Amino acid sequence: MRLDPADPAFSHDPYPYYGRLRDQGPAARVELANGTHAWLVTGYEHSRAVLADPRFSNVPPQRAGRPKPSSPAQRARACLAQHMLNTDAPDHTRLRRLTAAAFAPPRVDALRPRIEQLAAGLVTELTGRLTAGETVDLVDGFAFPLPILVISEVLGVPEADREALREWTYRVGSPADALPQGAVDEAWVLLHTYVTSLIAEKRKTPGEDVFSALVRSSAEDGLDDGELLAMAFLLLFAGYETTMNLLASASLRLLTHPGELTAARRDPDARWAAVVEETLRYDSPLEGATWRRAAETVDLGDGVEVPAGDSVLVVLAAANRDPAHFPDPDEFRPTRYLAAADGKRAAPHAAFGHGPHFCVGSRLARMEAAIALPLLFDTPLDLRLAADPMDLPYRPGLLVRGPRRVPVTIQAT
Ligand code: HEM
Repeated sequence: MRLDPADPAFSHDPYPYYGRLRDQGPAARVELANGTHAWLVTGYEHSRAVLADPRFSNVPPQRAGRPKPSSPAQRARACLAQHMLNTDAPDHTRLRRLTAAAFAPPRVDALRPRIEQLAAGLVTELTGRLTAGETVDLVDGFAFPLPILVISEVLGVPEADREALREWTYRVGSPADALPQGAVDEAWVLLHTYVTSLIAEKRKTPGEDVFSALVRSSAEDGLDDGELLAMAFLLLFAGYETTMNLLASASLRLLTHPGELTAARRDPDARWAAVVEETLRYDSPLEGATWRRAAETVDLGDGVEVPAGDSVLVVLAAANRDPAHFPDPDEFRPTRYLAAADGKRAAPHAAFGHGPHFCVGSRLARMEAAIALPLLFDTPLDLRLAADPMDLPYRPGLLVRGPRRVPVTIQAT
């Protein structure tokens, strides 16, 4: 089956397509828009199995015949791509160990007051605009800035540099043809230069931030400067558009499911966490995991053999809608993540991945959403979606998923 991720109908609702693939077996070979082929894994069990299977490698294939990076932008990009999501054990184990310490629960939990402050600042700004009668976009004014402010805090990026960083990361995450010519290339170079100087600065004057801790331990753990640079870039990037989509999708669901909002307000301790979990399942912010490649021929069962060298995409969004694991998967129902009377609750979703590359920032992302959503929605403001949800555009592509705009107004009294 052919797959065209640029098709707006597909990016708005890819689930029927993924459902048809799931019915075909453990993996389906599809033709991509560029004419190449890949195996898509869309069932819950098989997704987890592939993500935990060392026969599927994260190391990008050597692109034979490709010229060595020559322009400064290509060199910057190649350097920043040497991060742990692009490695397998034992390199991966070594790099991962460092971040595990830096993102240990006490370190993440200590960020709570600062996240509350940053989120409250954005909400105050939005409230001012809304009460002045403006229609505001929750992606632009809330879901987009908060993760970048938080991750800047984690990495110890000085406040004065955050605006620029926000601009550069936005640019390198955009398709080259969506911006003026040269804008993406320029951002790669600026980002590379910036991260290089940030490392030098943290070495000279370390702070209490996670990144200073990483820089400090890098020497003992044999992390070279290139690896440290790529690590900083990954941390900046991995937690930004993903969390943005979580906040944007959760906002949209609360606006279109007012009963769930009322329930969360009534029972905040349990319900907000359940809204976050169900959004992660129902609107998986990372649609697909990063690409894997079969390092050898792998028999996935049911007559499906993935030949050595073939590319494999585990579609997390599809695994999270697998009816064999989530009853009524296409219904947004946060109660499935509340413990039932017998103590049971829904299966864990796969939105943060599985296996050795399981998301390092899951605790931070969950905390950020559980803090920010009530600050925005559990107020006397009566937020209303100012568009038909069917008209809201979604980001094209297979990697990240979320509405690009969530315009709201407040109910006039
Ligand atoms: C809602 C927000 C987020 C989602 C849905 C998410 C999802 C994921 C997923 C699915 C993976 C595994 C990808 C794969 O196996 O190919 C991953 C890895 C990773 N995530 Fe997150 N993430 C989120 C937020 C964050 C945050 C806030 C950070 C923190 C800085 C972060 C840092 C990382 C890192 C460093 C990895 C690579 C781990 C490794 O290779 O071992 N993520 N994330």
